[in-house]
Amino acid sequence: MGANVDLSVRIGNGTLANPVGVASGTFGYGGEYEGLVDFSDIGAIYTKAVTLEPRGGNAPPRLVETPSGILNSIGLANVGVEKFISDKLPYLRTLPCAVVVNVAGASEDEYRRVVERLESGCLDSVDTNGSGIFGYEVNVSCPNVHHGGLAFGTDPAQVERLTSSLRELTKRPLIIKLTPNVTDIAVVAKAAEAGGADAVSLINTLVGMVIDVKTRKPVLGAKTGGLSGPAVRPVGVALTCKARRAVSIPIIGMGGISCADDALQYILAGASAVQIGTANFVNPKTAGLVSSGIREYCIGNGISSLKEICGVAVD
Ligand code: SIN
Repeated sequence: MGANVDLSVRIGNGTLANPVGVASGTFGYGGEYEGLVDFSDIGAIYTKAVTLEPRGGNAPPRLVETPSGILNSIGLANVGVEKFISDKLPYLRTLPCAVVVNVAGASEDEYRRVVERLESGCLDSVDTNGSGIFGYEVNVSCPNVHHGGLAFGTDPAQVERLTSSLRELTKRPLIIKLTPNVTDIAVVAKAAEAGGADAVSLINTLVGMVIDVKTRKPVLGAKTGGLSGPAVRPVGVALTCKARRAVSIPIIGMGGISCADDALQYILAGASAVQIGTANFVNPKTAGLVSSGIREYCIGNGISSLKEICGVAVD
């Protein structure tokens, strides 16, 4: 009976069989979760951001718990594109889930060079079955770096320019990851769509600060960080609804999802797919549980395709 529910999601020229992915920065490059999860339960792994050169990241401490959430200031620590190709991609290619490479850069040129290197170095065709890379998630929303990241994502003109520049380089699904730290996310989502994005993903984290009253200093080495976890879910759901009204490309919703009902809120607000982030640190199997919970909800409510309920709470 479960097999009759269509959970597939079309993104550009690719199809995800399962709408529930794991968010960039919460799942490493997949291997970190070997033995802890069944990768066939996951729709897509969105890798940790990949930049042109390796990055050490920000000064510690980089993580602090907050009420119903965490604040991180990782600073895009990653192995760089060459090591990603030589050390991480071979493993990722063996997995039975889609792989979306999260790409970051301090300049338009850097984003371009990462995508160019991935396109020329190792990829053969659009791939949804695990032997290659499904597509790219372009990180224009990291709040923890001085160049690129948020500085790109708060400027709609720059988002459109960067998107169309990357569009020239690849036919693979191109997803632009948006920040909630803007006055109007609809304007930025429209800019991504105008630039040729196949989807937008939202929300990245909200800028926050925690101060230790004993030391009278911010707890995080970088002083501010990005807030994620259940505390931000109502923000993510509201911004999904706002983006839904602004664009016709698919929306991938995230922010505080830890169970099927949380994910369904995003879907009812207009998301076609979702990502699990902070909840992976609590239970690495969350994506699989959310996915099967969505299937059960559909069966229990006579829904044969997830598309039937996408956006119905707000359309
Ligand atoms: C980080 O590496 O600082 C977090 C990534 C992000 O927020 O995009």
